[in-house]
Amino acid sequence: MIPVTVVYVLNGPNLNLLGTRRPEVYGTTTLSILEELCREEATRLGLDLVFRQSNHEGLLIDWIHEAGARVKAGESIGAVFNPGAYTHTSIALHDAIEGTELPVIEVHISNVHRREAFRHHSYISPIARGTIVGLGVDGYRLAIDALHRMSSR
Ligand code: DQA
Repeated sequence: MIPVTVVYVLNGPNLNLLGTRRPEVYGTTTLSILEELCREEATRLGLDLVFRQSNHEGLLIDWIHEAGARVKAGESIGAVFNPGAYTHTSIALHDAIEGTELPVIEVHISNVHRREAFRHHSYISPIARGTIVGLGVDGYRLAIDALHRMSSR
């Protein structure tokens, strides 16, 4: 059997509230519908999807370590990551990505640069392969596609 390559999609705090939390900012797509959209895109590209959400920074760090190890083992192309508010606060997430050399595309549903000043700085962007902001949940699909293109270069 040929092993299938995995793409991770990791979501940080409060993204379990997608669909009901500030729909004027984040839209009405729920997290489970978003998972389905990501699964469709992954399947189209011949990838397996690991889709997770946590409100806990340490668990997100553990998942980054797991994904990084799987990339090194040749089993994964990397992770699409929406760190939620931890984007703007977490040196620990920055260090986890840097330390594992995990290829990450950082995604934000809203355009953080049009919002409050505290959302303008990201600890993740300097160690991400790329960032997608403000394109709604469509950003996830585009990020999966971008990771796939990068891995096939
Ligand atoms: C977000 C933007 C963050 O500033 C915010 O804390 C979130 C969601 C986005 O997807 O637009 O929780 O990451």
